[in-house]
Amino acid sequence: MKLPITREQAWKLVQKHNSHVADLSHYLESEAVMRGVARHLGEDEEYYGMLGLLHDIDWGITKDNDATHLTKAPDILRESGFDDAFIQAVVSHGYGFDCAGLKDCVRNESIQHALAASETVTGLIYAYALMRGGITGMEVKGLKKRFKSPAFAAKVNRDVIAECEKLGIPLDDFLQIAIDSIEKIKDQIGLK
Ligand SMILES: [Fe+2]
Repeated sequence: MKLPITREQAWKLVQKHNSHVADLSHYLESEAVMRGVARHLGEDEEYYGMLGLLHDIDWGITKDNDATHLTKAPDILRESGFDDAFIQAVVSHGYGFDCAGLKDCVRNESIQHALAASETVTGLIYAYALMRGGITGMEVKGLKKRFKSPAFAAKVNRDVIAECEKLGIPLDDFLQIAIDSIEKIKDQIGLK
């Protein structure tokens, strides 16, 4: 699938609209997990990675009023040359949430489930990494325990992470892919 800009240009675009370090880390983690998922599924790594990197492109300029999240992303992405399919995939990670009028929309495509599950699992892994002093040596078993305890990182939506099953990836396998993918970029996101 063709992408209109390079990864380097995309990263610059992300930084143009977002400056918060934790947010930037989240985009890099989402990119890494999406690449891992694509590799696992035999899908296009560059395309999936680009979706992960850019999925919250307007967050930095909408988070003061989060109901407007994803209202600006389509124009920003269109200006950079992305087509409707890419833009729709980005916007679909807001389906079911109270933003951009997406509350009643339902994801039904693999790529949509991939993005939603990938960007959401980053929150759980990051919180667990902080708790245990890093990501090195993190095991699925421990992560799954946190997944099952609703009070831990309570804002992380477990149902969205479980959408990995709709990709045909069992939850345990998905958590392993996500851990491995984020561990690879730990230096970039300040984790041990
Ligand atoms: Fe996100």
